[in-house]
Amino acid sequence: MKVLVSYLSQTGNTKKIAEAIFEEIKTEKELKPLKEVNSLEGYDFAFIGFPVHGFGPTKNAADFIKKHATDKKIALFITHAMPPDNEMLLGLLNKCKKPANKADLVGFYNCQGELAEKVAQMLMKSGNPQMEEFGKMRDMTAGHPNAEEIEKARVFAKETIEKL
Ligand SMILES: Cc1cc2nc3c(=O)[nH]c(=O)nc-3n(C[C@H](O)[C@H](O)[C@H](O)COP(=O)(O)O)c2cc1C
Repeated sequence: MKVLVSYLSQTGNTKKIAEAIFEEIKTEKELKPLKEVNSLEGYDFAFIGFPVHGFGPTKNAADFIKKHATDKKIALFITHAMPPDNEMLLGLLNKCKKPANKADLVGFYNCQGELAEKVAQMLMKSGNPQMEEFGKMRDMTAGHPNAEEIEKARVFAKETIEKL
């Protein structure tokens, strides 16, 4: 079995989760940024990860999944600034799953990811009140994904592979 772990990561959080997942895979495997992947042909399974951008999935990742994952067995992993108890999180995660609605979605993992300082400053200056609110959340996101979230990603990887 050949497994792909692919990710889109602007500030490194989703990449950390990708690396943890990758380490748990004991079969033939590849770890690649999504922009280096042309299709899912030749892989038996793919973990695909991306950050939330602008209250939804990162566009390039959503486009890739819609185009290439129809009828393919995949798992998604997402990082976002929202804490797990935020009431908007469930809706946001459903939006992130939507591009995979024609895929065979075997697993889904999400955790918080630190809002980078530069990004927080950009959001604060955006002139968009919703984005400004996000910028102010930076302190709550510091240090994520933390050791516990990385460990959970490892367990997620093992459990997902076992389901195949
Ligand atoms: C342009 C931009 C928009 C973002 N919008 C959201 C958002 O709407 N909701 C959210 O929870 N996090 C948002 N974030 C935070 C990122 O999803 C979070 O920091 C993520 O862990 C970044 O992952 P990365 O380091 O792999 O790029 C945004 C980040 C950026 C850069």
